[in-house]
Amino acid sequence: EKGGFPSFMEKEIFDQPAAVADTLLGRADAEGRLTLDELRIEPEKLAKITKIVVLACGTSAYAGSVAKYAIESWCRIPVEVELSHEFRYREPIVDKNTLIVSISQSGETMDTLMAVRYAKEQGAKTLSICNTNGSTIPRESDAVLYTHAGPEIAVASTKAFLAQITATYLLGLYLAQLRGNLFSGQIKDILADLAKIPAKIQDILDRSGEIKDLARSMAESKSVLFLGRHVGYPVAMEGALKLKEIAYIHAEGFAAGELKHGPIALIEEGQPVFVVVPSPRGRDSLHSKVVSNIQEVRARGAKTLVIAENGDSAVKDYSEWVFYVPETPTLLMPLLATVPLQIFACELATAKGYDVDQPRNLAKSVTVE
Ligand code: M6R
Repeated sequence: EKGGFPSFMEKEIFDQPAAVADTLLGRADAEGRLTLDELRIEPEKLAKITKIVVLACGTSAYAGSVAKYAIESWCRIPVEVELSHEFRYREPIVDKNTLIVSISQSGETMDTLMAVRYAKEQGAKTLSICNTNGSTIPRESDAVLYTHAGPEIAVASTKAFLAQITATYLLGLYLAQLRGNLFSGQIKDILADLAKIPAKIQDILDRSGEIKDLARSMAESKSVLFLGRHVGYPVAMEGALKLKEIAYIHAEGFAAGELKHGPIALIEEGQPVFVVVPSPRGRDSLHSKVVSNIQEVRARGAKTLVIAENGDSAVKDYSEWVFYVPETPTLLMPLLATVPLQIFACELATAKGYDVDQPRNLAKSVTVE
Protein backbone atom coordinates (compact mmCIF):
# COMPACT_ATOMS: atom_id res chain seq x y z
CA GLU A 1 0.00 0.00 0.00
CA LYS A 2 3.05 2.27 0.31
CA GLY A 3 3.52 1.74 -3.40
CA GLY A 4 7.14 0.64 -3.01
CA PHE A 5 8.12 3.68 -0.92
CA PRO A 6 9.74 3.22 2.50
CA SER A 7 7.11 5.35 4.22
CA PHE A 8 3.63 6.74 3.64
CA MET A 9 5.10 10.21 3.98
CA GLU A 10 7.49 9.69 1.08
CA LYS A 11 4.74 8.11 -0.99
CA GLU A 12 2.46 11.07 -0.28
CA ILE A 13 5.20 13.54 -1.25
CA PHE A 14 5.47 11.69 -4.55
CA ASP A 15 1.66 11.68 -4.91
CA GLN A 16 1.65 15.46 -5.13
CA PRO A 17 1.49 15.91 -8.90
CA ALA A 18 -1.74 13.87 -8.80
CA ALA A 19 -3.04 15.64 -5.68
CA VAL A 20 -2.82 19.02 -7.41
CA ALA A 21 -4.09 17.74 -10.78
CA ASP A 22 -7.07 15.98 -9.19
CA THR A 23 -7.97 19.05 -7.14
CA LEU A 24 -8.00 21.13 -10.34
CA LEU A 25 -10.01 18.59 -12.28
CA GLY A 26 -13.49 19.48 -13.49
CA ARG A 27 -13.63 22.95 -11.92
CA ALA A 28 -13.98 24.96 -15.14
CA ASP A 29 -16.29 24.67 -18.16
CA ALA A 30 -15.25 24.54 -21.83
CA GLU A 31 -15.01 28.37 -21.95
CA GLY A 32 -12.65 28.37 -18.96
CA ARG A 33 -15.29 29.74 -16.57
CA LEU A 34 -14.97 28.35 -13.06
CA THR A 35 -17.99 26.33 -11.99
CA LEU A 36 -17.68 25.50 -8.31
CA ASP A 37 -21.10 23.85 -8.22
CA GLU A 38 -20.47 22.02 -4.99
CA LEU A 39 -20.14 25.29 -3.07
CA ARG A 40 -23.79 25.56 -2.02
CA ILE A 41 -23.65 29.31 -1.24
CA GLU A 42 -25.67 31.47 -3.62
CA PRO A 43 -23.41 33.55 -5.88
CA GLU A 44 -25.30 36.73 -4.88
CA LYS A 45 -24.34 36.14 -1.26
CA LEU A 46 -20.70 35.48 -2.14
CA ALA A 47 -20.63 38.67 -4.17
CA LYS A 48 -21.54 40.65 -1.03
CA ILE A 49 -18.69 39.33 1.11
CA THR A 50 -16.67 42.16 2.68
CA LYS A 51 -14.11 40.12 4.61
CA ILE A 52 -12.71 36.59 4.62
CA VAL A 53 -11.40 34.96 7.76
CA VAL A 54 -9.42 31.75 7.30
CA LEU A 55 -9.47 29.40 10.29
CA ALA A 56 -7.14 26.41 10.54
CA CYS A 57 -4.32 24.86 12.56
CA GLY A 58 -0.81 23.67 11.77
CA THR A 59 0.03 23.04 8.16
CA SER A 60 -3.51 23.88 7.08
CA ALA A 61 -3.09 27.34 8.61
CA TYR A 62 0.05 27.84 6.51
CA ALA A 63 -2.02 27.00 3.42
CA GLY A 64 -4.35 29.77 4.58
CA SER A 65 -1.45 32.19 4.93
CA VAL A 66 -0.40 31.44 1.36
CA ALA A 67 -4.00 31.92 0.18
CA LYS A 68 -4.19 35.38 1.75
CA TYR A 69 -1.64 36.75 -0.73
CA ALA A 70 -3.47 35.34 -3.73
CA ILE A 71 -7.05 36.12 -2.70
CA GLU A 72 -6.26 39.70 -1.67
CA SER A 73 -4.38 40.24 -4.91
CA TRP A 74 -7.06 38.75 -7.15
CA CYS A 75 -10.26 39.75 -5.32
CA ARG A 76 -9.30 42.85 -3.33
CA ILE A 77 -11.17 41.43 -0.32
CA PRO A 78 -9.36 41.66 3.04
CA VAL A 79 -8.31 38.20 4.24
CA GLU A 80 -7.40 37.46 7.85
CA VAL A 81 -5.79 34.16 8.75
CA GLU A 82 -6.15 33.00 12.31
CA LEU A 83 -5.37 29.86 14.25
CA SER A 84 -8.75 28.35 15.13
CA HIS A 85 -8.02 28.11 18.86
CA GLU A 86 -6.97 31.77 19.04
CA PHE A 87 -10.05 32.93 17.14
CA ARG A 88 -12.39 30.95 19.33
CA TYR A 89 -11.29 32.43 22.64
CA ARG A 90 -11.30 36.13 21.86
CA GLU A 91 -14.18 38.30 20.69
CA PRO A 92 -13.70 38.23 16.93
CA ILE A 93 -15.64 40.68 14.79
CA VAL A 94 -17.62 38.74 12.20
CA ASP A 95 -21.04 39.36 10.65
CA LYS A 96 -23.25 38.10 7.83
CA ASN A 97 -20.94 39.55 5.21
CA THR A 98 -17.93 37.71 6.61
CA LEU A 99 -16.96 34.51 4.86
CA ILE A 100 -15.27 32.03 7.16
CA VAL A 101 -13.03 29.67 5.20
CA SER A 102 -11.93 26.77 7.37
CA ILE A 103 -9.16 24.55 6.08
CA SER A 104 -8.76 21.03 7.43
CA GLN A 105 -7.36 17.87 5.95
CA SER A 106 -9.23 15.59 8.33
CA GLY A 107 -12.37 17.65 8.80
CA GLU A 108 -12.32 16.51 12.43
CA THR A 109 -9.90 18.94 14.10
CA MET A 110 -11.74 19.97 17.26
CA ASP A 111 -10.15 23.41 17.51
CA THR A 112 -11.29 24.27 14.00
CA LEU A 113 -14.74 22.73 14.44
CA MET A 114 -15.35 24.79 17.59
CA ALA A 115 -14.19 27.97 15.84
CA VAL A 116 -16.48 27.32 12.86
CA ARG A 117 -19.45 26.68 15.16
CA TYR A 118 -18.71 29.88 17.02
CA ALA A 119 -18.46 31.94 13.81
CA LYS A 120 -21.75 30.45 12.61
CA GLU A 121 -23.45 31.50 15.82
CA GLN A 122 -22.21 35.04 15.14
CA GLY A 123 -23.99 34.96 11.77
CA ALA A 124 -21.01 34.42 9.45
CA LYS A 125 -21.17 32.21 6.36
CA THR A 126 -18.91 29.20 6.61
CA LEU A 127 -17.08 27.41 3.84
CA SER A 128 -14.96 24.33 4.50
CA ILE A 129 -11.95 23.31 2.44
CA CYS A 130 -11.50 19.69 3.38
CA ASN A 131 -9.88 16.47 2.20
CA THR A 132 -12.23 14.02 3.90
CA ASN A 133 -15.65 13.46 2.40
CA GLY A 134 -18.52 13.63 4.83
CA SER A 135 -16.40 14.58 7.83
CA THR A 136 -17.76 16.83 10.58
CA ILE A 137 -16.47 20.29 9.57
CA PRO A 138 -17.84 20.20 6.00
CA ARG A 139 -21.09 18.70 7.30
CA GLU A 140 -21.56 21.61 9.67
CA SER A 141 -20.51 24.30 7.18
CA ASP A 142 -22.74 26.18 4.74
CA ALA A 143 -20.49 25.26 1.85
CA VAL A 144 -17.67 22.90 1.00
CA LEU A 145 -14.87 22.71 -1.50
CA TYR A 146 -13.17 19.33 -1.37
CA THR A 147 -9.46 18.87 -2.00
CA HIS A 148 -8.85 15.69 -3.93
CA ALA A 149 -5.49 14.66 -2.49
CA GLY A 150 -6.71 11.16 -1.63
CA PRO A 151 -6.35 9.72 1.88
CA GLU A 152 -3.35 11.10 3.76
CA ILE A 153 -1.96 8.52 6.18
CA ALA A 154 1.33 10.00 7.44
CA VAL A 155 0.91 12.30 10.43
CA ALA A 156 2.98 15.00 8.73
CA SER A 157 0.80 16.65 6.13
CA THR A 158 2.29 17.01 2.63
CA LYS A 159 -0.02 16.36 -0.30
CA ALA A 160 -3.02 17.78 1.56
CA PHE A 161 -1.10 21.06 1.91
CA LEU A 162 -0.54 21.48 -1.82
CA ALA A 163 -4.13 20.46 -2.52
CA GLN A 164 -5.36 23.02 0.03
CA ILE A 165 -3.39 25.81 -1.62
CA THR A 166 -4.80 24.73 -4.98
CA ALA A 167 -8.37 24.74 -3.65
CA THR A 168 -8.03 28.16 -2.03
CA TYR A 169 -6.71 29.47 -5.36
CA LEU A 170 -9.76 28.08 -7.16
CA LEU A 171 -11.93 29.80 -4.59
CA GLY A 172 -10.05 33.08 -5.06
CA LEU A 173 -10.41 32.88 -8.84
CA TYR A 174 -14.10 32.02 -8.52
CA LEU A 175 -14.70 35.04 -6.29
CA ALA A 176 -12.72 37.25 -8.69
CA GLN A 177 -14.87 35.95 -11.57
CA LEU A 178 -18.09 36.52 -9.65
CA ARG A 179 -17.17 40.00 -8.51
CA GLY A 180 -15.56 41.05 -11.78
CA ASN A 181 -12.13 41.70 -10.23
CA LEU A 182 -10.27 39.85 -12.99
CA PHE A 183 -10.97 39.61 -16.71
CA SER A 184 -11.85 36.16 -17.98
CA GLY A 185 -8.57 36.11 -19.93
CA GLN A 186 -6.60 36.70 -16.74
CA ILE A 187 -8.43 33.88 -14.98
CA LYS A 188 -7.76 31.57 -17.91
CA ASP A 189 -4.05 32.43 -17.81
CA ILE A 190 -3.80 31.67 -14.10
CA LEU A 191 -5.70 28.38 -14.57
CA ALA A 192 -3.28 27.50 -17.36
CA ASP A 193 -0.32 28.21 -15.05
CA LEU A 194 -1.94 26.05 -12.35
CA ALA A 195 -2.42 23.25 -14.86
CA LYS A 196 1.34 23.21 -15.47
CA ILE A 197 2.16 22.78 -11.77
CA PRO A 198 1.87 18.94 -11.58
CA ALA A 199 4.58 18.43 -14.24
CA LYS A 200 6.80 20.97 -12.49
CA ILE A 201 6.41 19.15 -9.16
CA GLN A 202 7.34 15.96 -10.98
CA ASP A 203 10.51 17.64 -12.22
CA ILE A 204 11.45 18.41 -8.58
CA LEU A 205 10.65 14.83 -7.49
CA ASP A 206 12.83 13.48 -10.28
CA ARG A 207 15.75 15.41 -8.78
CA SER A 208 15.03 14.44 -5.16
CA GLY A 209 18.45 12.76 -4.88
CA GLU A 210 20.16 16.16 -4.54
CA ILE A 211 17.95 17.04 -1.59
CA LYS A 212 18.32 13.65 0.05
CA ASP A 213 22.12 13.86 -0.11
CA LEU A 214 21.99 17.21 1.67
CA ALA A 215 19.55 15.87 4.29
CA ARG A 216 21.74 12.87 5.13
CA SER A 217 24.77 15.10 5.49
CA MET A 218 22.86 17.24 8.00
CA ALA A 219 21.45 14.50 10.24
CA GLU A 220 23.41 15.81 13.23
CA SER A 221 22.11 19.39 12.98
CA LYS A 222 20.88 20.85 16.26
CA SER A 223 18.88 23.70 14.74
CA VAL A 224 17.80 24.77 11.27
CA LEU A 225 16.33 28.16 10.37
CA PHE A 226 14.06 28.97 7.42
CA LEU A 227 13.56 32.39 5.85
CA GLY A 228 11.07 33.64 3.31
CA ARG A 229 9.19 36.76 2.24
CA HIS A 230 5.70 37.19 0.80
CA VAL A 231 4.35 33.72 -0.13
CA GLY A 232 7.78 32.33 0.73
CA TYR A 233 7.19 33.20 4.38
CA PRO A 234 4.50 30.56 5.06
CA VAL A 235 6.61 28.13 3.01
CA ALA A 236 9.49 28.79 5.44
CA MET A 237 7.14 28.20 8.39
CA GLU A 238 5.96 24.93 6.85
CA GLY A 239 9.54 23.79 6.19
CA ALA A 240 10.35 24.38 9.86
CA LEU A 241 7.22 22.60 11.08
CA LYS A 242 8.00 19.49 9.03
CA LEU A 243 11.47 19.28 10.54
CA LYS A 244 10.23 19.73 14.12
CA GLU A 245 7.47 17.18 13.72
CA ILE A 246 9.32 14.25 12.25
CA ALA A 247 13.05 14.87 12.84
CA TYR A 248 12.69 16.43 16.32
CA ILE A 249 15.15 19.15 15.40
CA HIS A 250 14.71 22.68 16.62
CA ALA A 251 13.57 24.67 13.61
CA GLU A 252 12.12 28.15 13.17
CA GLY A 253 10.63 29.90 10.20
CA PHE A 254 10.98 33.68 9.94
CA ALA A 255 9.83 36.44 7.66
CA ALA A 256 13.15 37.42 6.14
CA GLY A 257 12.40 41.11 6.74
CA GLU A 258 12.15 40.39 10.45
CA LEU A 259 15.79 39.21 10.67
CA LYS A 260 17.24 42.52 11.74
CA HIS A 261 14.52 42.92 14.34
CA GLY A 262 15.89 40.04 16.37
CA PRO A 263 16.45 36.61 14.82
CA ILE A 264 19.75 37.56 13.17
CA ALA A 265 21.28 37.40 16.67
CA LEU A 266 20.86 33.61 16.46
CA ILE A 267 23.24 33.30 13.53
CA GLU A 268 26.65 31.91 14.39
CA GLU A 269 29.29 30.02 12.45
CA GLY A 270 27.80 27.00 10.68
CA GLN A 271 24.11 27.68 11.48
CA PRO A 272 22.10 26.14 8.63
CA VAL A 273 19.60 28.60 7.10
CA PHE A 274 17.22 27.70 4.30
CA VAL A 275 16.14 30.68 2.22
CA VAL A 276 13.14 30.58 -0.11
CA VAL A 277 13.92 33.04 -2.91
CA PRO A 278 11.12 34.58 -5.00
CA SER A 279 11.33 34.67 -8.77
CA PRO A 280 13.73 37.27 -10.21
CA ARG A 281 11.10 37.79 -12.92
CA GLY A 282 8.51 38.87 -10.36
CA ARG A 283 8.46 42.10 -8.41
CA ASP A 284 12.08 43.16 -8.61
CA SER A 285 12.36 44.62 -5.12
CA LEU A 286 11.15 41.37 -3.53
CA HIS A 287 13.88 39.27 -5.13
CA SER A 288 16.70 41.68 -4.37
CA LYS A 289 15.57 42.06 -0.76
CA VAL A 290 15.78 38.30 -0.23
CA VAL A 291 19.18 38.12 -1.91
CA SER A 292 20.40 40.80 0.56
CA ASN A 293 19.02 38.69 3.41
CA ILE A 294 21.08 35.72 2.19
CA GLN A 295 24.17 37.94 2.19
CA GLU A 296 23.41 39.22 5.70
CA VAL A 297 23.20 35.77 7.28
CA ARG A 298 26.11 34.46 5.27
CA ALA A 299 28.33 37.33 6.41
CA ARG A 300 27.64 36.12 9.97
CA GLY A 301 28.70 32.56 9.25
CA ALA A 302 25.42 30.91 8.26
CA LYS A 303 25.44 27.88 6.00
CA THR A 304 23.00 29.13 3.36
CA LEU A 305 20.75 26.57 1.65
CA VAL A 306 18.76 28.20 -1.08
CA ILE A 307 15.60 27.33 -2.99
CA ALA A 308 15.54 29.52 -6.10
CA GLU A 309 13.98 29.61 -9.52
CA ASN A 310 15.70 28.12 -12.57
CA GLY A 311 17.91 30.72 -14.15
CA ASP A 312 18.33 32.82 -11.00
CA SER A 313 22.01 33.68 -11.29
CA ALA A 314 22.06 36.09 -8.34
CA VAL A 315 22.06 33.49 -5.55
CA LYS A 316 24.93 31.17 -6.46
CA ASP A 317 27.73 33.26 -5.04
CA TYR A 318 26.15 33.42 -1.60
CA SER A 319 24.94 29.86 -1.19
CA GLU A 320 26.48 26.66 0.10
CA TRP A 321 23.81 24.74 -1.74
CA VAL A 322 21.11 25.74 -4.22
CA PHE A 323 18.11 23.79 -5.42
CA TYR A 324 16.42 25.20 -8.50
CA VAL A 325 12.68 24.90 -9.02
CA PRO A 326 10.94 25.45 -12.36
CA GLU A 327 9.69 28.91 -13.32
CA THR A 328 6.19 29.86 -12.25
CA PRO A 329 4.36 33.09 -11.33
CA THR A 330 5.26 34.29 -7.82
CA LEU A 331 1.86 33.49 -6.32
CA LEU A 332 2.09 29.85 -7.42
CA MET A 333 5.65 29.39 -6.16
CA PRO A 334 4.65 27.74 -2.83
CA LEU A 335 3.31 24.76 -4.80
CA LEU A 336 6.89 24.12 -5.92
CA ALA A 337 9.17 25.56 -3.22
CA THR A 338 7.56 23.52 -0.42
CA VAL A 339 8.39 20.19 -2.05
CA PRO A 340 12.19 20.21 -1.51
CA LEU A 341 11.63 21.15 2.15
CA GLN A 342 9.27 18.18 2.62
CA ILE A 343 11.80 15.82 1.03
CA PHE A 344 14.55 17.28 3.20
CA ALA A 345 12.65 16.68 6.46
CA CYS A 346 11.53 13.20 5.43
CA GLU A 347 15.00 12.08 4.45
CA LEU A 348 16.71 13.61 7.46
CA ALA A 349 14.28 11.94 9.87
CA THR A 350 14.70 8.64 8.03
CA ALA A 351 18.50 8.98 8.27
CA LYS A 352 18.12 9.39 12.03
CA GLY A 353 16.16 6.16 12.12
CA TYR A 354 12.82 7.70 13.11
CA ASP A 355 9.40 6.45 12.07
CA VAL A 356 8.38 9.37 9.85
CA ASP A 357 4.78 8.20 9.58
CA GLN A 358 4.16 8.06 13.33
CA PRO A 359 6.15 10.83 15.01
CA ARG A 360 6.21 10.81 18.80
CA ASN A 361 3.50 12.68 20.73
CA LEU A 362 1.40 13.47 17.64
CA ALA A 363 -1.90 12.19 16.25
CA LYS A 364 -3.10 12.44 12.66
CA SER A 365 -6.28 14.17 13.63
CA VAL A 366 -6.46 16.18 16.79
CA THR A 367 -9.99 15.58 17.99
CA VAL A 368 -9.59 17.19 21.39
CA GLU A 369 -9.36 20.91 22.13
O1 M6R B 1 -6.71 17.81 9.75
P1 M6R B 1 -6.28 19.24 9.84
O2 M6R B 1 -5.83 19.80 8.55
O3 M6R B 1 -7.34 20.12 10.48
O4 M6R B 1 -5.05 19.24 10.83
C1 M6R B 1 -4.44 20.42 11.24
C2 M6R B 1 -3.11 20.16 11.92
O5 M6R B 1 -3.28 19.34 13.05
C3 M6R B 1 -2.12 19.47 10.96
O6 M6R B 1 -1.91 20.20 9.79
C4 M6R B 1 -0.78 19.24 11.65
O7 M6R B 1 -0.13 20.46 11.90
C5 M6R B 1 0.08 18.30 10.81
N1 M6R B 1 0.63 17.26 11.64
C6 M6R B 1 1.17 19.01 10.07
O8 M6R B 1 2.03 18.16 9.40
